Amino acid sequence: MNRCDNMAEGKGYGKCILFNEHFVVYNIPSIVSAIGDYTLATVEATDSGGVQLIDERPATPGYKEEKLEHQKDSLQRILDAMDIDQEEDLKITLEGDLYCASGIGASAASCTAIARALDQFFDMGLNDDQINDIAYEGEKGYHGEPSGVDNAASTYGGMIWFVRGEKNTFEPLSLKEPIEIVMGNTGRVANTKAAVAGVKERKEKYPERYEEIFQDARRLAHDARDALEANDIEKVGELMNTDHSLLQDIEVSDEDLDMLVETARSAGAVGAKMTGGGLGGYMVALTPGKELQEKVAKAIEDKGFRVLRTKIGV
Ligand code: MEV
Repeated sequence: MNRCDNMAEGKGYGKCILFNEHFVVYNIPSIVSAIGDYTLATVEATDSGGVQLIDERPATPGYKEEKLEHQKDSLQRILDAMDIDQEEDLKITLEGDLYCASGIGASAASCTAIARALDQFFDMGLNDDQINDIAYEGEKGYHGEPSGVDNAASTYGGMIWFVRGEKNTFEPLSLKEPIEIVMGNTGRVANTKAAVAGVKERKEKYPERYEEIFQDARRLAHDARDALEANDIEKVGELMNTDHSLLQDIEVSDEDLDMLVETARSAGAVGAKMTGGGLGGYMVALTPGKELQEKVAKAIEDKGFRVLRTKIGV
């Protein structure tokens, strides 16, 4: 394959799901925002034989070990999707400021970053939609049948109304201005595939109960979109709280996530919920203004948990 350069780089953003993780798998609208933290992939020519992956991303202890087999599968899928022979002499290095943990889109960010760096290295001239499709293939190595919401945020950035379908719908949503959030990390590595499988199992077992919850989630997505577009931050926070209750109802939250959500609310967060696959990983608190952000972040840190101070709608 033709190489354009001896070295190339690509970025993929982390993400925060504001509304309807899990429900999105069942074609219910979701709202996701990219965050400023990203993974950077560098591709270099080597003479070492085959494709080598060096992972230097900062991460929750145990995260990389737990995901290693998934990562290998994912890389193979990316190479296949890009028609790149695994015998190519390449070194791919992952780094960047995105602190890898469950719930922050670390796997999607790495898939997007690798796809972008390989695209540049081989001068393929791919557009964002093609990069997104490749990142989606890579995500399958981690999640089995992902909805595609994480790689969409990683690839396109900004805030997105995302609906899974025969053809996924992405609509950019704009905020009047970016809003501060705090993401609190339980420090536990979660298994998204298992969490998604658990919802499927319970949904089949309790169809009526789950149908009601899913209808509530559908209505909530539209209300949340209206509130975001009207810049009604109080309402957005209130709806995040309701979304957390729905996620508790489908049993994807856990004690640590609930405790961090309560801590954030008690410290004055406008709204708080778990984010991502749940059963460990991250929660998010809406904290407009630097002062409130700091207060909520401190309250979580005082409990001994790691936080990320960032913004949505950037
Ligand atoms: C994981 O970040 C989001 C889930 O909804 C899974 C998916 O959408 O593929 C739990």
